[in-house]
Amino acid sequence: MDVESSKQQDKGIVPTTDQQPHEHRGRRIICMVVIPLILALVLLFTILALTVFKAKQPLTNVNSIALGNLDFSVDVARLKVYLNVTLHTIVTVKNPNKVGLKYSNSTVFLKYRSDVVGEAPIPAGKIGAGDTQTMNITLTLMADRLLSSSNLYSDLVSGTLPLQTYMRISGTIHILFNIHVVTYTTCNLDIDLSNSDLVNQKCHYTAKL
Ligand SMILES: *[C@@H]1O[C@H](CO)[C@@H](O)[C@H](O)[C@H]1NC(C)=O
Ligand SMILES: *[C@@H]1O[C@H](CO)[C@@H](O)[C@H](O)[C@H]1NC(C)=O
Ligand SMILES: *[C@@H]1O[C@H](CO)[C@@H](O)[C@H](O)[C@H]1NC(C)=O
Repeated sequence: MDVESSKQQDKGIVPTTDQQPHEHRGRRIICMVVIPLILALVLLFTILALTVFKAKQPLTNVNSIALGNLDFSVDVARLKVYLNVTLHTIVTVKNPNKVGLKYSNSTVFLKYRSDVVGEAPIPAGKIGAGDTQTMNITLTLMADRLLSSSNLYSDLVSGTLPLQTYMRISGTIHILFNIHVVTYTTCNLDIDLSNSDLVNQKCHYTAKL
């Protein structure tokens, strides 16, 4: 059956002239020149991607955290608290890569005993190859979010307010394909209410490729 049907098909095909010699040569040139060239280029790009252009983590650094404003009062009789705190933070992000780093919109959070009490936006941007971006971030504690915290009254009376800042920057670098990078920065600090001073400031950095 198979043989017959294939024979019938053969009959239907109009015999073509044999392939021209230069067509053969063209094919041989493709095999001998173009394919090795493509392989060499792929190898070159792979080596470059693994060496010079190897993706590196962005380096985040909190240069300074300064107390911009501190107003507080405790109404002992009514157990009521008024609190207004502003922190000025300067953060640098260095892109050690040979290509630009694009990062998306993000938010810096100010936390008090794991509750978010303030936030500031970081608008999306780009950091050029080898460049360092400086970000001025102002965080304002929103007292209304804090008033529900039962610890606040005792912290204010004791004279130390523990706070935490949390920043996540997420971006991509493009080396052959998009590589996702994320950095996390957490700073713990205490506000010494008697001196209006920041003490025990400790920052912790992590990054993921
Ligand atoms: C907090 O203090 C700043 C600067 O003194 C002031 O502009 C702002 O109105 C205050 N906020 C509250 C809620 O009192
Ligand atoms: C980033 O934020 C800006 C300004 O808030 C907004 O216009 C833009 O749409 C945001 N981009 C993304 C991808 O969400
Ligand atoms: C960031 O803050 C520093 C110190 O307060 C100031 O010198 C600098 O001009 C600020 N940069 C921007 C972009 O606001």
